[in-house]
Amino acid sequence: MKTTTSQEHLELGQFIPFIYHHNMLADPARMEAFREAIAIAVPAGSNVLDLGGGTGVLSFFAAQRASRVWCVERNPELVQAAGRLLSINPGAERVEVIQADAFDYLPPEPVDVVICEMLHVGMLREKQVPVLASFKRRYLEKFGAPLPLFLPEAFLQAVQPVQQSFDFNGYYAPIPSLQDPSARHQHTRELAKPALFQVASYGESLPMDCAWQGEITITESGSLNALRFITKNVLTIVETEQRSIDWFSQYLIMPLSDPLEVTANQQVSVSFAYTLGDPIARLKPIVTLID
Ligand SMILES: C[S@@+](CC[C@H](N)C(=O)[O-])C[C@H]1O[C@@H](n2cnc3c(N)ncnc32)[C@H](O)[C@@H]1O
Repeated sequence: MKTTTSQEHLELGQFIPFIYHHNMLADPARMEAFREAIAIAVPAGSNVLDLGGGTGVLSFFAAQRASRVWCVERNPELVQAAGRLLSINPGAERVEVIQADAFDYLPPEPVDVVICEMLHVGMLREKQVPVLASFKRRYLEKFGAPLPLFLPEAFLQAVQPVQQSFDFNGYYAPIPSLQDPSARHQHTRELAKPALFQVASYGESLPMDCAWQGEITITESGSLNALRFITKNVLTIVETEQRSIDWFSQYLIMPLSDPLEVTANQQVSVSFAYTLGDPIARLKPIVTLID
């Protein structure tokens, strides 16, 4: 069963404009993490499937190790771009670019690794989890066990109470925003440590929803007017070196409709519920003080 409507196909996230792919290619943290993880996780001579191939860059990384790579992309403009860009880079003869919906596509033969970068903070907006849940079900029906290795392998999600400045040259605009995880954020004050709310492994049974209620202890006094959502993608686990190669999605700052004045050591209750892949607007957290 498809989980996207034709209207959703047009939404940002399902349809990332070509110009935005430059930002992704130019993001050193993202590119270095994927390059290293793919070089380690893809066995020499293997079969690889890249779902949501975009410009083809992750298929290019995979083709440096694999003997066959299927690069699946739905947006025709990007299918064309991937074909052109791959053809001017080494390994193109090992990559087949296919215009298809990742909710339907299965490779012609079993694969060793599935790469899928339809990632967005909170597992919101993009369809990473529904796409991979659908893929796993259809793959097992067609080829049987074992499932391939997934890259990323897992994700961890956390939420953190913050005080955020929403002042823009005197214009007060409490709207959601994204933050570069590697930068310092002078307009954000952390009022508590991040609290883990979800951990999932793509090789195991995947959650379709995220419903959480938890208590968080405030460590800094301030005006709690937003929550920061943090998603860590475990791209691959390097068992021999007892480490993982991780990549953080951009942080999401979500303003609260009712800000709270809080003091250190107070406790707040935080709750939210959404379906993975939902638009950001469906995330409506509730924060209350615990007496
Ligand atoms: C975040 S981009 C990543 C692109 C590329 N893998 C990279 O790492 O640079 C996600 C890509 O998935 C594609 N996409 C989204 N939904 C898709 C679907 N259902 N089937 C195939 N491709 C899809 C988008 O068009 C976009 O190119």
